[in-house]
Amino acid sequence: MQIGIAADHGGFDLKETLIMRLKAAGFQVADFGAFELVPGDDYPDHVIPLAQAVARREVPKGLAICGSGVGACVAANKVPGVRAALITDVFSAHQGVEDDEMNVMCLGGRVTGHALAWDLVQSFLAARFTGNERFVRRLRKVAALERRERDSLL
Ligand code: RB5
Repeated sequence: MQIGIAADHGGFDLKETLIMRLKAAGFQVADFGAFELVPGDDYPDHVIPLAQAVARREVPKGLAICGSGVGACVAANKVPGVRAALITDVFSAHQGVEDDEMNVMCLGGRVTGHALAWDLVQSFLAARFTGNERFVRRLRKVAALERRERDSLL
């Protein structure tokens, strides 16, 4: 399985740790940067290309990391088709996929320790959307809103 990952300076250290662990666990990693620690770089520059790759299904799931995880989550959710959430607990890491088809998990590099982050990532990657009718119904409502908002701007 391939996984995309992106981080700004606030998430850079955690990104490097997760890439190392993901590769050791046999995952293919598509790294959208930052490729070096650049203090003051901007999370949209790395997170948006990752989110676009997820929306185009070039990678099935993504990890978006900044200092708090908030900015990364805000940016990723602006890309139609992306369902991103800031995750700090294992229950939400898998339930967000099972019920809400979360396809980008956001992490705070200055908030979540590396060991917990790896547990969250494993839980996120192992989870599958259940396809339960009520979850599909809810996601269709979200997708319809996304289309209406896009069309209203045209
Ligand atoms: C650091 O610049 C910080 O603002 C950023 O990494 C992120 O936490 C934003 O949400």
